[in-house]
Amino acid sequence: MVKVNACVFISGNGTNLKTIIKNSRDYNFPIKISLVISSSKKAKGITFARKYSIPYIVLNVDKKKFEKVALKELLRRNIKLICLAGFMKILSKDFIRSFKGKIINIHPSLLPKYKGLNTFERILKDKEIMTGCTVHFVNEKLDNGRTIVKKRIWIEKKDDTNSLKKRVQCEEYKAYSMAIRKIYVLN
Ligand code: GRF
Repeated sequence: MVKVNACVFISGNGTNLKTIIKNSRDYNFPIKISLVISSSKKAKGITFARKYSIPYIVLNVDKKKFEKVALKELLRRNIKLICLAGFMKILSKDFIRSFKGKIINIHPSLLPKYKGLNTFERILKDKEIMTGCTVHFVNEKLDNGRTIVKKRIWIEKKDDTNSLKKRVQCEEYKAYSMAIRKIYVLN
């Protein structure tokens, strides 16, 4: 199968990155992770790029420089899909426009509810009974683009932010790869 070259942007633990890398090793998975870009040199996720021998770049710089260098590398490596996975920078409109329809993100809530940070705290405070995660296309507004996949879980009485985060992340690992498959099956 001819795979699409993809890049994953991370800033932290990279557990979604790890799952995507593992799934991408399957012959029938539509993308190959050709590059990992981390906005932080402390990101644990870098260890997964190393472990699986995937080229990675650390760009611990301001947004303008980050985007300039990233863009150059993405074009040089013929990257056709950018997966944001725990990436903490907000990309500029220009950058998003230059990769229109080719940037996707995962967010730990059922969008459009609970955009932004500290989702689990807010969800528990509001006594929601259900939550989940959303994989969506990135547009110029924060956590706003078209949904690709949503996964839902019930919130249990005993849940705190840690347990909820753990359970939502388990759904994220399935949702992200499902979304990637869905994009290329539909195209
Ligand atoms: C995930 O919960 C994702 O929804 C959010 O950031 C977290 C990243 O986790 N955008 P990891 O770095 O993939 O472990």
